[in-house]
Amino acid sequence: MDALEYERFADIYSIWTATAGSTHTNLPFYVQAYLAAEGSVVELGVGDGRIAVEAAVRGRHVVGVDLSPAMLALCQARAAEAGVANRLTLLQGDFRSFVLPEPAALIALPYHSIGHLTSLDAKRDALRHIHTQLRPGGRFIFDDFLMTPGRLDEMRRVQLRAEYDTPDGHHALLWVTSLIDAHAQTMRVVTWEDLLDDDGVMMRRRYRPLSLSWMSPAQAAALLADTGFKAEGCLGAFDGTPFLAATAEEQIWIARKDSAT
Ligand SMILES: C[S@@+](CC[C@H](N)C(=O)[O-])C[C@H]1O[C@@H](n2cnc3c(N)ncnc32)[C@H](O)[C@@H]1O
Repeated sequence: MDALEYERFADIYSIWTATAGSTHTNLPFYVQAYLAAEGSVVELGVGDGRIAVEAAVRGRHVVGVDLSPAMLALCQARAAEAGVANRLTLLQGDFRSFVLPEPAALIALPYHSIGHLTSLDAKRDALRHIHTQLRPGGRFIFDDFLMTPGRLDEMRRVQLRAEYDTPDGHHALLWVTSLIDAHAQTMRVVTWEDLLDDDGVMMRRRYRPLSLSWMSPAQAAALLADTGFKAEGCLGAFDGTPFLAATAEEQIWIARKDSAT
């Protein structure tokens, strides 16, 4: 990922997640996993703390790691507003090189964020590194897009994602489409925000692209095995439905570091 992408995206992140398909289901899934963990919990790509702060409100201490200072600032502000800043430890770092204060019982990488590493090699580096930061027997949970031809077609379409008023009082429309390279399994999610004056005339358009990618379930399974993880299970939806290729909406992997390592 271009390190600057989320610096530009941060100010529309809450609109983005509020209008997304999977955020309402991935939130309770990850919060539950954080609360159930026996030991320290880490969220990689903690973003604005959408998940971590909710877990903190319910009593869990969470270490949040993110590359983007702008996203970390949003997370800090959200935690302070919720009165749980003391239950969050925020670290600026990359998925491939972060250093934890202590080995973790659970490391989570929610909301397709592994896709921000756009090559399999980069993902392999991240998983190898995540393995080193877990305690023996610790868990790693992540989800990835489950791409189908239908989903790719949908992402290629131009969609009006949201209509809202900006903090400085302008009316805004947020649009999105994706430029997809199906062979490379990469995409550029391009958003543009149109600011309108009182007559509905566009005054300014701002683009905020994000680079993303996806793996097939077979690639994800191979990567976990390659990097020393034991895959305990794969879910097809955040309600706990086991993965079945024909019906799955997502791929949600639950993996463990061997207790002897
Ligand atoms: C899709 S957001 C997810 C935020 C949050 N986990 C959620 O579910 O709303 C992805 C986050 O990962 C961060 N990120 C992307 N690439 C990263 C990397 N290589 N290392 C650390 N953080 C990264 C971005 O800055 C962003 O905050």
